Amino acid sequence: MTAPSITAHNHQSILPHRHELSTHQRYERAIQSSKRVAWDIDDDVIRGRRFDVAQKFLPDGLTLIDRFTTLSPDERRFVSQIQGRTYANVFGLVERFINAKVLEVGRDHALGDQAAVEALGRFSAEELKHQALFRRIEGMMAAQMPAGYRFDFDPDAVAGAVLDKSTWAVLALTLDIELFVLRHYRESIDPDPQLSPLFKDVFLYHWKEESQHAVLDELELQRHDATLTAEARDRAVDDLIALVGAVDGILRGQAAADAHYFAAACGRAVRTDEAPAIEAAFLAAYRWQYIFSGAEHAPFTKVLFGLITEAQGRRITEALAGLA
Ligand SMILES: [Fe+2]
Ligand SMILES: [Fe+2]
Repeated sequence: MTAPSITAHNHQSILPHRHELSTHQRYERAIQSSKRVAWDIDDDVIRGRRFDVAQKFLPDGLTLIDRFTTLSPDERRFVSQIQGRTYANVFGLVERFINAKVLEVGRDHALGDQAAVEALGRFSAEELKHQALFRRIEGMMAAQMPAGYRFDFDPDAVAGAVLDKSTWAVLALTLDIELFVLRHYRESIDPDPQLSPLFKDVFLYHWKEESQHAVLDELELQRHDATLTAEARDRAVDDLIALVGAVDGILRGQAAADAHYFAAACGRAVRTDEAPAIEAAFLAAYRWQYIFSGAEHAPFTKVLFGLITEAQGRRITEALAGLA
């Protein structure tokens, strides 16, 4: 038996570039990636470690630590720990609605492309694992930090409100979130010796699975987009703007809660003229982490602006500018 000769044409069909892949092949690739990178919360991420409050939890590029101008180095480290805890809680929250939507769109494929069913089934199982990871590290951080931290948003209540909006808007927000995880991982590879190795691994392992989720989000968003009328898409743009506004409402509430916790637990009296600046710095950091690090990110804008008109793009850009 002779080996098949690989011509340039054959070679391309064996290893096609991303834009040459069929939708079915992209689902299959997502399955392969999911199998290749699969990890376990205890064996790979936590590995018997604990959080150490002598270390920073979130890197400076995410905490926007330079904005906390009145704080000492120890107080800035405490801010990174508060924000790390909020990071775990916010992801626990958003992954609830992401998983609900993935289960819903996965059903559309049930009697069709079985690679799509498997890819989305794995996506759902991974998001359940991520929620478990974030709950786990929330408890681990709570054990090391002073009492009094609060995160009062209920994931099911928030997911219920999000899922009332159109599927197009929920998928667009999901794509945004899953793409910014890559940027957050990049920040965490900063060779800062003060950064918690355990938190670095949370970023690393989370990103490994989110990168194929982003591929699937894009596929599902484009598939769903093709079913919409121009009027329905226009309303969906309004829904996306409303969802970003709702995210911002959560961030404003949490920035206030975290500034309050900082003041109560930092070990000194925060001056009355200092408190609003601390809250504003928390809010700027959270808006960067959960809105702008995705909304201004080229891989996201390329997909989003490929689906909408210039006027719709301007509506989104103006809404975002209103939050800056
Ligand atoms: Fe996740
Ligand atoms: Fe994800």
